[in-house]
Amino acid sequence: MTNRDTPLLVANWKANLAPAEEVALAGQIATEATRRETKPGSLMIAPSTLGAVPVASLLAREHGSLQIGIAAQDVSALEPGAHTGEGPAPHLLGIARAVILGHSERRDLGETGALIGKKVARAVAAGLSPIVCVGDRDREATTEQRCDEVRAQWHELMESAVQSGSSLAALIDVGVFIAYEPVWAIGSGDAADPELAGRVAAALRGLITDEVKVLYGGSVRAERASSFFAGGGAARLDGLLVGGASLSSESLLDISTALGTSR
Ligand code: 13P
Repeated sequence: MTNRDTPLLVANWKANLAPAEEVALAGQIATEATRRETKPGSLMIAPSTLGAVPVASLLAREHGSLQIGIAAQDVSALEPGAHTGEGPAPHLLGIARAVILGHSERRDLGETGALIGKKVARAVAAGLSPIVCVGDRDREATTEQRCDEVRAQWHELMESAVQSGSSLAALIDVGVFIAYEPVWAIGSGDAADPELAGRVAAALRGLITDEVKVLYGGSVRAERASSFFAGGGAARLDGLLVGGASLSSESLLDISTALGTSR
């Protein structure tokens, strides 16, 4: 979905907007992306559960050449069946190609590493790319402590994914992303130091494989967006996961411009 030269910009709209507002914002983003000649395939939008279908159909119908991807914000740990209220992974096919899992806002609602791993396994079995979020919680921690915390989160969820029939090879095959989202940076207006993000990316690559794609998320704004791509080697980042600044077409596309994927 992305390579070293084309950073991926993922807009996580969380539960901020009603579906009709999401459709309107998707239209504004597509119009602005067309005006700025955004590189096809460089944007992905994660609407709410109810907004995913109308947003996906608007983008496919009217703005297909931009190849804006759709990510879900969650998926069920269960297979399709008699499970009232659940949204199983195969039901997302044709709508989304990725799914954000393990976000700290869902962990705060009680999701454990074991549950996240089951969801990862379901997503992968359905052919969806999981965008697996990991992140440390203590703003004052040392880099080593942060790396230990995200490694532990990864181990816990992968153990569960494997127990649910998945494998690291299957995750890599389907195009897994790991999003490093320090919890203290999310919504704080204060992004992590890009060098720290690079060190965590390198630690994750050392643990998993050099090939794995790593995103950064947490108070990303256009002004500092390009600084996240200064690192090379194992410390490189492959894209950004953006919350607040993705809720306006202008600020989202300003980030894309800063990354060189829009004019
Ligand atoms: P903010 O960009 O609002 O800090 O949110 C980041 C995030 O949680 C993306 O998943």
